[in-house]
Amino acid sequence: MNSSRRSFLFRFGIFLNGVAASLIGIPILGYLLAPVRTRALQAWIPLGDVDDYETGRTALAEYENPFTVPWDGETARIPCWVRREPGDVFSVFAINCTHLGCPVRWFEGSGLFMCPCHGGVYYADGTVASGPPPRPLYRYETEIRDGRLWVRGGRLPTLSESV
Ligand code: FES
Repeated sequence: MNSSRRSFLFRFGIFLNGVAASLIGIPILGYLLAPVRTRALQAWIPLGDVDDYETGRTALAEYENPFTVPWDGETARIPCWVRREPGDVFSVFAINCTHLGCPVRWFEGSGLFMCPCHGGVYYADGTVASGPPPRPLYRYETEIRDGRLWVRGGRLPTLSESV
């Protein structure tokens, strides 16, 4: 084997190693940077005055997604469940079931969220009571500023992401 052929094979081997490293490294980098990307598509959004919500009750609220494209239409309006506990403690939940995403409904009489699709049931604190949902309802970060309730909304995690 002459030296130019050996040199070519050596360089070709380095090239193949680079391709293999890219194929393995890029998805890993995407996985590691996913939380940063999700955070970049979230913003603090007002959900109305604190006094709009009755203590001990769960109410449906809605906000406009700040990260939209013109063809989003009605889907840019995002509903969520707001629960107010004594002491101005708020829990705000995404409306989507964590099984396959159907909208859950709140039933005041039983104090449960129920999913119409496959019978998923959640307690008032969003934890799973029964059925197929693999995890609790997604809970928004909340803040109270100047008598108003704010949530960190926008892009919500998918089922393949940890919350
Ligand atoms: Fe809610 Fe299946 S989508 S239980």
